[in-house]
Amino acid sequence: MKINVLTVAPEMRAEIERRFAGRAGLVESAEGFEGFELLRPVEGSDRYLVYTRWRSEEDFQRWTEGEAFRRGHARAAAEAEQRPAGEGHGEGHGHGHGHGGPASSAAELWSFEVVQDVPPKPADG
Ligand code: HEM
Repeated sequence: MKINVLTVAPEMRAEIERRFAGRAGLVESAEGFEGFELLRPVEGSDRYLVYTRWRSEEDFQRWTEGEAFRRGHARAAAEAEQRPAGEGHGEGHGHGHGHGGPASSAAELWSFEVVQDVPPKPADG
């Protein structure tokens, strides 16, 4: 599991969801991709989870180094570049707030290995 954790101010929630709604749709064709979910916080946190599941660490690394990742994040990168030098680094990883900048104020990557994965029992009949 690779989970990108995005800190999103309340007033930016609609914006980040809009961006994901218009996402490039490229991750689903990546080699070794097994699933993606955008998770909105309900209570206890202001952080969205961009949950992705991969066959292997190598498959994830290959995706982040490839063209599909760059294009899937092109807008975030472009918006970071528009901001004054020294603020954005042009990587789409900015810490800006408000309009024109990235909709998130911070991003953090979590990695997990699946220890157990229990599907529900099929219904009788
Ligand atoms: C490093 C800072 C990152 C930020 C601020 C960020 C933010 C975003 C945003 C705003 C979008 C919506 C698309 C757009 O605006 O063009 C997006 C797409 C996406 N992000 Fe990130 N992201 C980052 C890195 C990552 C990482 C490391 C992962 C891996 C878990 C990831 C997974 C995804 C996925 C799966 C999509 C959908 C792309 C597609 O449809 O192909 N992101 N990200």
